[in-house]
Amino acid sequence: MLQRSCSVDMSTPTVSELRGGNPLRTMASRGSLAEGEEPGQAVFPPGSRLDGKFRILSVVYAHGFDSVVYLADKVGGTEADKCAVKCVFKERMYGEDQVQRAREEAGILHQLAHRRIIAVVAAMETEQAFITVMPYAACGTLHARSQFKTVTEFETRNFTSQALEALEFVHERGYLHGDIKPQNFLLTQAEDKFVVQLCDFGFVERLGDSGKVKYTGMRGTSGYFSPEMVAEQAYGAGVDVFALGCIVFQLLAGYEAFDPPSHFEELDFDPRYWKHMSPECVEFVEQVLDFNPDSRPCAAACFAKPWFAAKVSEEQPVEKFVPPPDPSLKFHHRDHCPDAFPDRSRSDSWMSPADAEKDSFAPPSRANPNEPLSAADA
Ligand SMILES: Nc1ncnc2c1ncn2[C@@H]1O[C@H](COP(=O)(O)OP(=O)(O)O)[C@@H](O)[C@H]1O
Ligand SMILES: [Mg+2]
Repeated sequence: MLQRSCSVDMSTPTVSELRGGNPLRTMASRGSLAEGEEPGQAVFPPGSRLDGKFRILSVVYAHGFDSVVYLADKVGGTEADKCAVKCVFKERMYGEDQVQRAREEAGILHQLAHRRIIAVVAAMETEQAFITVMPYAACGTLHARSQFKTVTEFETRNFTSQALEALEFVHERGYLHGDIKPQNFLLTQAEDKFVVQLCDFGFVERLGDSGKVKYTGMRGTSGYFSPEMVAEQAYGAGVDVFALGCIVFQLLAGYEAFDPPSHFEELDFDPRYWKHMSPECVEFVEQVLDFNPDSRPCAAACFAKPWFAAKVSEEQPVEKFVPPPDPSLKFHHRDHCPDAFPDRSRSDSWMSPADAEKDSFAPPSRANPNEPLSAADA
């Protein structure tokens, strides 16, 4: 699906001289941000067109180090065709290695077609950036929804069931995501509840035959690092399970499992916040946050844990919770979960026959997935 080139028309009714100009005219010519420099300041102005098909409407997210995410619509499309356009700028990357990995990312994401993973509508590479067009998840991220409130055990379990479905699929396909955190779970509302989809495969890694990746540096986000990565050991898909455990702990309790992050000590189930949780829930959290990756359950095994069969009340007493659970945060259980974008799957009519023809991009795979990656990737 990755087109090697595309036209970027930045013309707007008022800035016609920009037509055909450098789309990244405001970008710094170095790979890092200077003091005071705002990240993501390379902008496609509203009205810019990508490949003649997608029209930029506004900026969704501009805090990324090397990326900006825009809201766009499909030219001639309907409200339901709104999409998110993620641009990862080559000049902000550390080196050719990282550029190559970004090039692979779109191809990998395209292979990972699953209802719990955000779809790729189109992917393009320009001289300056990698551009991925996805359906727009209008309800934002898990982070935005949960950062000021806890989530009830019942809803946390429903969220977890959807998140595990994504992880199970990614791991079965021989990859680890590498950056599991609340900001990378997109939410869409369906039937008054949230459907969860995993996004941002910028740190995706191919697992070697041993199911592991050689440690070449810290990858991911502080607060969600696993003990094996912090110990600079080879690591596997268990890093994603551990990171999900950190999320589950935080959703339920409202405080972080490890404080300071990566200070791995015994988990603190403060009874003021945990006394309303089922024993199966506490047991599950302990198991997914097992410091030993060899005894930590894999994503598929998590579904067999007693928590998913336990009787858990939909209500949860709030008086001892600071902050209290947000009653409006309700998630589908994976078994009753409608598709987030029923009309916008990868094989739908968004792709013209000509695009479908171009849909043959296969990412160049590393001969030996265990070979060391450049330290620049860390
Ligand atoms: N398909 C989408 N729909 C809605 N918002 C999105 C979408 N994709 C990304 N975003 C928003 O942009 C943010 C950054 O996107 P992400 O792919 O995680 O890039 P980064 O590598 O910069 O973290 C997300 O946390 C989310 O807020
Ligand atoms: Mg992200």
